[in-house]
Amino acid sequence: MSKLELQGVETYYGPSQVLFGVDLVIEPGEVATLMGRNGMGKTTTVRSIMGLTRAARGRIRFDEQEILTLPAYRIAQLGIGYVPEGRQVFPNLTVQENLVATAANRHGSADPWTVERVLALFPRLAERAGQYARTLSGGEQQMLAIGRALMTNPKFLILDEATEGLAPTIRDEIWAVLEHNLKQAGQAILVIDKHPKAMARIADRHFVMEKGQIVWSGDSQALLIDEAMQERYLGV
Ligand SMILES: Nc1ncnc2c1ncn2[C@@H]1O[C@H](COP(=O)(O)OP(=O)(O)O)[C@@H](O)[C@H]1O
Ligand SMILES: [Mg+2]
Repeated sequence: MSKLELQGVETYYGPSQVLFGVDLVIEPGEVATLMGRNGMGKTTTVRSIMGLTRAARGRIRFDEQEILTLPAYRIAQLGIGYVPEGRQVFPNLTVQENLVATAANRHGSADPWTVERVLALFPRLAERAGQYARTLSGGEQQMLAIGRALMTNPKFLILDEATEGLAPTIRDEIWAVLEHNLKQAGQAILVIDKHPKAMARIADRHFVMEKGQIVWSGDSQALLIDEAMQERYLGV
């Protein structure tokens, strides 16, 4: 099963250290969040997990396997799906072609994602299945990026600021899919986002970062109660 475990992860960009010993554990089937102000190291944590920015020290284990030194493509093949910040779709392929392009069922999921199932999840995309991705709105491109990650049938899905800058109605649609479809289906997810109230509904466990370290973790109830922590670390 898809347990993800980071211990003492330290990561640099050139000479400047950004992560100072990140510890977090996400149990199989859990939905977790990583929150914190801008520049605290959330994206760098995810890039370290994915092997895109190599951690200099620490341990990163997925399914009990050490992945810290694996190349990025191997980490993706182990079943970690990643939706990076920004819009990551092929602009000159249609919605349908974008989804077909990433389809894979490496780990023999009994109920693999299909183009039809992804389009059912996001009706806005279904209406635009034949359109070039570059003609979609920002929110629709984000839905497509999530759909592309699902088409790889990931054991573990990471979403980095998937709703950043989107209109509230579109944001709510994406959150609803996370809460009512993916979480319900037992998909393990790490969500990076900035809205504790919404995240408390969607996720089981929360990690808060400041200056390259996890400074707080707890369940949704603890998150909602701790207004001082929210104010201090999340600026809420
Ligand atoms: N490619 C890079 N080169 C140098 N410094 C970077 C790079 N990317 C991010 N940083 C720095 O690392 C720190 C953490 O950034 P990041 O992980 O993107 O934070 P977050 O995702 O929490 O906003 C910031 O101080 C940022 O300026
Ligand atoms: Mg970031």
